[in-house]
Amino acid sequence: MATKRGKAAVTPRPRETRHIGLSLGADICWPICYEEIVRRLDLNIPFGEADVDLAVERVSIEPFDLRQSCKYDVVLDRLTHWYPLSREWIKKAILMDGLYVLNNPWSVQSNEKHTTYCAMMHLGMPIPDTWMIPPKAYEPLPDLKATLNAYAKLFDLSAVGRAVGYPAFMKPFDGGGWKGVSKIDDAAQLKQRYDESGKLVMHLQQAVAPFDRFVRCIGIGPQTYLVRYDPDVPLHNRYTLDRDFLDGDDAEILRDTTLTINAFFGWDFNSCESLRKDGTWHPIDFANPCPDSQVTSLHYHFPWLVIAKLKWSIFCAVTKRPFRRNLDWAPFYEIAALPDLTYREKLRRYGALARKHFDTDAFEAFCREHLSELDAIAWSFFGTAEAREAFRKKVAALYPAHEVEPFTDLFFKRVQDWRRDNPPPVEAAAVESAAVEAAPAAKPVKPAKSATKKKS
Ligand SMILES: Nc1ncnc2c1ncn2[C@@H]1O[C@H](COP(=O)(O)OP(=O)(O)OP(=O)(O)O)[C@@H](O)[C@H]1O
Ligand SMILES: [Mg+2]
Repeated sequence: MATKRGKAAVTPRPRETRHIGLSLGADICWPICYEEIVRRLDLNIPFGEADVDLAVERVSIEPFDLRQSCKYDVVLDRLTHWYPLSREWIKKAILMDGLYVLNNPWSVQSNEKHTTYCAMMHLGMPIPDTWMIPPKAYEPLPDLKATLNAYAKLFDLSAVGRAVGYPAFMKPFDGGGWKGVSKIDDAAQLKQRYDESGKLVMHLQQAVAPFDRFVRCIGIGPQTYLVRYDPDVPLHNRYTLDRDFLDGDDAEILRDTTLTINAFFGWDFNSCESLRKDGTWHPIDFANPCPDSQVTSLHYHFPWLVIAKLKWSIFCAVTKRPFRRNLDWAPFYEIAALPDLTYREKLRRYGALARKHFDTDAFEAFCREHLSELDAIAWSFFGTAEAREAFRKKVAALYPAHEVEPFTDLFFKRVQDWRRDNPPPVEAAAVESAAVEAAPAAKPVKPAKSATKKKS
């Protein structure tokens, strides 16, 4: 159509809002940072026919109608592993409304440490030898006596100890948070720990000892981050500040391992612990689909985590990434069955499959095209009093009153060290400083509007 002046009228592009829900428990610091960086980003992304912006809300807990629709495109979930109502609401929303969630709730529920060991052993990963042991004690269920009398064999615990070898670790087959984990040095200790284990179903696992490196690899979508981990020091120092602790192909092995596990189990956000002994990396704990995300443990590394979560969740929301409801194990098994390939060659192929699963190329192109300012905006934010206040709130929730200020200072200082070591790309920094000059001083983070809103 022509206007009076004869020029073609420009039809305004439709606007669309993508909704991201944060399903939170005791998380304090990262959601504040996530929300504030989204606010500062003020995204307006041309995608398809529309210009897309973002709304972030905290998901509330309340009764819900199974047929009620869900407004969120993506949910970052931190409750599924222990809070059934949220987990079941998420399942409903995946099945009925096409929700994308980090992480697949069925997989979180069913794939415990034990299953992950078995599957990755089958793919050839050098998981230490591990036995499962019947529990010492039971709930007195009606069928218990008949079952045990008929089928439970008396067993020689020390024979299991000899088969695994010492030192070993006894730990729950579905463990987390170091609950019930103990190092066992001999048969007497094994008996004592087993007697104390009660109703827990335990693994006895060969220790990787002595090891010369212990690394945690965090994966978020196709993004990975490696930290040398020290299990023997207080919590706030376990993620070490070491750099250059990996040689040759080590980093690639750990990245391939983590991405393989995450793609296999439908976990977009997970962490994998591996120990190196005699040049071989042994993964020992990689069913962590609600990984530690707190500044009080991650400190220096915390900004990476927040930025990586932002990039992946925004990518998933804006592009309406379809959620895979079913896991797809066959392609990994096909590689595992290939003759004449070394484990390293297989791992490379698993890694390539995983990178494809996470649409790595499309994700990286999306970040380049649409999120080029994110690094600089986040970098600026992590230097502000608001960031420090977010850290202080988390510290105040965990530490005694007299330690709150010193530990807040410590974590804030380590994050400033991260800023010093990771200046944003020059072009994005220029855009950011222009925006800062033009904009009024940043407002404090608004309280989550959604606290009283319905989930739909
Ligand atoms: N096979 C092993 N060899 C050497 N050390 C081990 C082994 N298994 C466990 N550990 C030690 O015990 C710690 C806890 O074990 P693991 O990580 O399996 O338990 P978890 O309860 O899942 O811990 P979290 O979830 O907190 O990481 C490890 O961080 C490591 O220090
Ligand atoms: Mg662990």
